[in-house]
Amino acid sequence: MDRFGRRTLLKAGLGVGVGLGLKPELALCQDNPASSRPGEGDLLVKAGDAMKNPLGPGDIREGARPILAWAMDPADGTVRSGSRLNQVLLVRLDQEELSPETRLRAVEGIVAYTAICTHTGCEVDDWLPPEQLLHCPCHGSRFDPRDSGKVVDGEAPRALPALPLKLDNGRLVVGGSFTARVGFQTA
Ligand code: FES
Repeated sequence: MDRFGRRTLLKAGLGVGVGLGLKPELALCQDNPASSRPGEGDLLVKAGDAMKNPLGPGDIREGARPILAWAMDPADGTVRSGSRLNQVLLVRLDQEELSPETRLRAVEGIVAYTAICTHTGCEVDDWLPPEQLLHCPCHGSRFDPRDSGKVVDGEAPRALPALPLKLDNGRLVVGGSFTARVGFQTA
């Protein structure tokens, strides 16, 4: 099939997805493993790592700025970087400071959250070391990674969805789906 044929098929698939009430990106996600949301058992790799080395706890330093990562299918090495909504922040904190709920999703103090701000979808790529808070540079929302990504201040209407982690053979592995829908929405 030539590329125009594939494009036609893709459009047709999208049309069916939208017809079923799915958003276009969701329809695409269901066809494309690279765009599928991180799922249980996925490994994690640092963004930009061409070698796709799975991350372990030793790769995340306590108190350092978060690492931007992608989930990776352990079966075929597909990195789920096909959607910006799949960007994951990994940060290591003092285990004793984690809320009970957050501790359940953490591995050795390492927690994972979406990198997509719940306000209008900017990337939460700023880190405030003294307060140990995630900071969105667009409108200044701040989130507490020690307490389920809750909004500390700013206009974000809800917490950053968390991605549960677990440890498997010394590697960080996704323990389940995001705790809430990733992306932004009205309050
Ligand atoms: S997009 Fe993050 S605070 Fe507005």
